[in-house]
Amino acid sequence: MELAVAAFSTLHGTMAAGTLAALALATSYFLYAACLSPAATRRRLRKAGFGGPAPSFPLGNLSEIAASCSTSSSAPASGVVSSDIHGAVFPYFARWRAAFGNVFVYWLGTEPFVYVADPEFLKRATAGAMGRLWGKPDVFRRDRMPMFGRGLVMAEGDEWARHRHVIAPAFSATNLNDMISLMEETTAKMLGEWDEAVAAAGRSAAVAVDVERGVVRNAAEIIARASFGIEEGGARVFDKLQAMQSMLFRSNRLVGVPLARLLHLRKTYEAWRLGREIDALLLDVIDARRRAAAGGEAGKRKKDLLSLLLAAGDEGDKKRMMTSRELVDECKTFFFGGHETTALAVSWTLLMLAAHPEWQRALREEVREVAGDGPLDAAALSKLTKMGWVLNEVLRLYPPSPNVQRQALHDVTLNDDANVDGAPPVVIPKGTNMWIDVVAMHHDEALWGPDANEFRPERFAGAAAQGGCGHRLGYLPFGFGGRICVGRNLTGMEYRVVLAMVLRRFELAVATEYRHAPRIMLSLRPSDGIQLLLTPLAVSSNASIKH
Ligand code: HEM
Repeated sequence: MELAVAAFSTLHGTMAAGTLAALALATSYFLYAACLSPAATRRRLRKAGFGGPAPSFPLGNLSEIAASCSTSSSAPASGVVSSDIHGAVFPYFARWRAAFGNVFVYWLGTEPFVYVADPEFLKRATAGAMGRLWGKPDVFRRDRMPMFGRGLVMAEGDEWARHRHVIAPAFSATNLNDMISLMEETTAKMLGEWDEAVAAAGRSAAVAVDVERGVVRNAAEIIARASFGIEEGGARVFDKLQAMQSMLFRSNRLVGVPLARLLHLRKTYEAWRLGREIDALLLDVIDARRRAAAGGEAGKRKKDLLSLLLAAGDEGDKKRMMTSRELVDECKTFFFGGHETTALAVSWTLLMLAAHPEWQRALREEVREVAGDGPLDAAALSKLTKMGWVLNEVLRLYPPSPNVQRQALHDVTLNDDANVDGAPPVVIPKGTNMWIDVVAMHHDEALWGPDANEFRPERFAGAAAQGGCGHRLGYLPFGFGGRICVGRNLTGMEYRVVLAMVLRRFELAVATEYRHAPRIMLSLRPSDGIQLLLTPLAVSSNASIKH
């Protein structure tokens, strides 16, 4: 017995020592990760010449960011639509930029960010082989895992290259043309709802409708149908994806603050639970497709992106084959990367057209010229040139993805070769993040001229693909380099279909209820919907999209 007690107490002593050692190790790791490593990075960044606001531990500059957001939210006047929005959506960046210039360092918790609103700096940091020195920030990868998993948006290295190689061809013009009909069907449903709202008001006057709500729902359904279909269980996936979207948008996280995730345990668990359910449902959809293909039903294949990716794998080239797990993540990536962004492009456009009736008339006239009252096909859609300028201008003034982020995978040395323009070499330490402020660059008078904050779609006329921007990297609505948005052609097509159909059906004006208060909630969104007055136009009954 005594022996047993002695053995137990030795074992207990050993375990206690082990626990203490583990605790000491965890504490040292925490101290290193949360204090020593950031302090060393801060010293190196200062030595490299980066200025910026002084951070505090453990929040970095987060308290200043929060304070600046709460003081800047004065209520905007009704009916006033000014596109000079940078100071309103990023008040803290506007202030720091005035103090430190277009490149400086700030801190989210213990994570350093090099802020960039200078396209030339961006070029020097990422041109050519330098591009391979940057990846996606770990701090956001963790946060966005429930949405994107290891899909294309978050993938890195060889895995990214393989996925991009398989996915890019699925977005070819031929494949996209097959999706026009589903875009038309869902949009007709949305217009039907707006018609009902007008009818309920007795058609006596224009009716105020929150168009953003309908446009977002429409875009979500289009992307779900274009990605994985909404039959065979897809509808349940769609509902749960929407639930996850609204939950993630509601949670305001302290990005970069050590252990801050512990404050959001319930939301983190909820996101994880929903993610598991979505994955299981999508796996069922994929299994059903594989079984149908194996059962000789390949001829009846749906024309959505999932089918195209499955078909690419069936061609016998192992490199093009994706596992079911990978396909699940890509379907989620298309949904989260593709619907909100496109919906915002359409929503901001409807607002701009309501505020600029001359452009509304011009686009309506263009739709009429290209197709009269008759059906449109893919070729006709591609002739909507002015609509293309308007899309570019809206993406400039209201970029749905208001920033692009990167993280240095190694130490990155700028101006290394032959001291570019006499500039001294600058080292950005491994692990430092880069925050590219797309809104700032898109509104910069130094790049666009004195009318930078005005809605002037004609700046994109003719050969001015960059809208007359003074720098190739000053216009980045879809990102840049090898990681440029893979879905931009799908957006272009959906945008034209939805807009052409809306313009044929309604005249738009800004409602007095509307308050222009764009703000950042991952994407650049209206704070409280977009209320427009809709007046029905006489439409000939055969005006629909031909496929
Ligand atoms: C107005 C609409 C859209 C905007 C403004 C937009 C914006 C962007 C931006 C800025 C990036 C680059 C992100 C980075 O480099 O970190 C990107 C990448 C991506 N987008 Fe879009 N996007 C739009 C529509 C779509 C659509 C419709 C889809 C898919 C159905 C899509 C799927 C993706 C994917 C998969 C990537 C990752 C590409 C890669 O890393 O290789 N996007 N998008």
